Amino acid sequence: INKGYGVKGLSETGIKTVPEQYIQPLEERTMNRVMVAESIPIIDVSNWDDPKVVSSICDAAEKWGFFQIINHGVPIQVLDNVREATCRFFDLPAEEKNKYSKDNTVSNNVRYTTSFLPHVEKTLEWKDYLSLFYVSEDEASKLWPSVCKDQVLEYKHESEKVISRLLQVLMKGLNVTKVDSEKEKLLMGSRRINLNYYPICPNPELTVGVGRHSDVSTFTVLLQDDVGGLYVRVEAKDSWVHVPPVKGSLVINIGDVLQIFSNGRYRSIEHRVVANGSNDRISVPIFVNPRPTDIISPLPEVLADSGENPIYKPVLYSDYVKHFYKKAHDGKLTIEFAK
Ligand code: SIN
Ligand code: FE2
Repeated sequence: INKGYGVKGLSETGIKTVPEQYIQPLEERTMNRVMVAESIPIIDVSNWDDPKVVSSICDAAEKWGFFQIINHGVPIQVLDNVREATCRFFDLPAEEKNKYSKDNTVSNNVRYTTSFLPHVEKTLEWKDYLSLFYVSEDEASKLWPSVCKDQVLEYKHESEKVISRLLQVLMKGLNVTKVDSEKEKLLMGSRRINLNYYPICPNPELTVGVGRHSDVSTFTVLLQDDVGGLYVRVEAKDSWVHVPPVKGSLVINIGDVLQIFSNGRYRSIEHRVVANGSNDRISVPIFVNPRPTDIISPLPEVLADSGENPIYKPVLYSDYVKHFYKKAHDGKLTIEFAK
């Protein structure tokens, strides 16, 4: 019905009802939303060396798997620029965006898609996205769309300091004190950046922006706009809590890989995005990942320090990712692959 035009094209036709393929089964539509008195922490990181900052981050990584950081040092202007650049890309005519579709793109490192995996999903998601696997500055300037590449690259560079700091702090919490360059590559040797676009939806209650999943990253740095709609699973309460937009903040979430590295101590938590009836929404996650050729397993330092047995077996990271991209979003099941 929207072949080649994405969900954005579909939304712009002015349809009053979402097409059948976008209607989620009832159990995915009903969501027990709670306002928990305590919620995902907002942590001021103006002083990364403050022991209180370190413990807030590590506690949040254990308890929620999600937190927001403010005063992180990435200029607001850089964040605004990348949000604007994202809109510019999705405002391009369909034929321009389709130059990056699966069938047309000159490189798998640059890929424009609608939904998540339209070829395997029974029900489609109300979202279009551009996925950029970062190889080098040089490749990015050649291959990334010109309407957004400078702003995305600037954002990537500006966030690197935050990413290194986060890694240091999270390792400190695990008593992994020596992070040499080999270990750093294993923990965070590659980056994928997605530009997500969630168009206005005529029936937000029938569909989802993104179905339940946990990320297959080490951790994810997410920039959102002021629309909202990201919900995080609160297992203990069998419910979901909203991640409210906070001006200038970055949302950080622990991914499956760090849950594996930490032998289950830091938690990669299920999350989802609801569709919105009155606004388009954009978000820009940076997935901080191992390299595809790395083997991931609980870190020896973590096992030695805790005296625990490993609860995950070693797997090749590219196999782990392949497994994730074989199926529709189905909750937190990818990690079973490492058991
Ligand atoms: C995702 O988790 O896939 C997207 C998160 C968001 O858009 O807020
Ligand atoms: Fe996610």
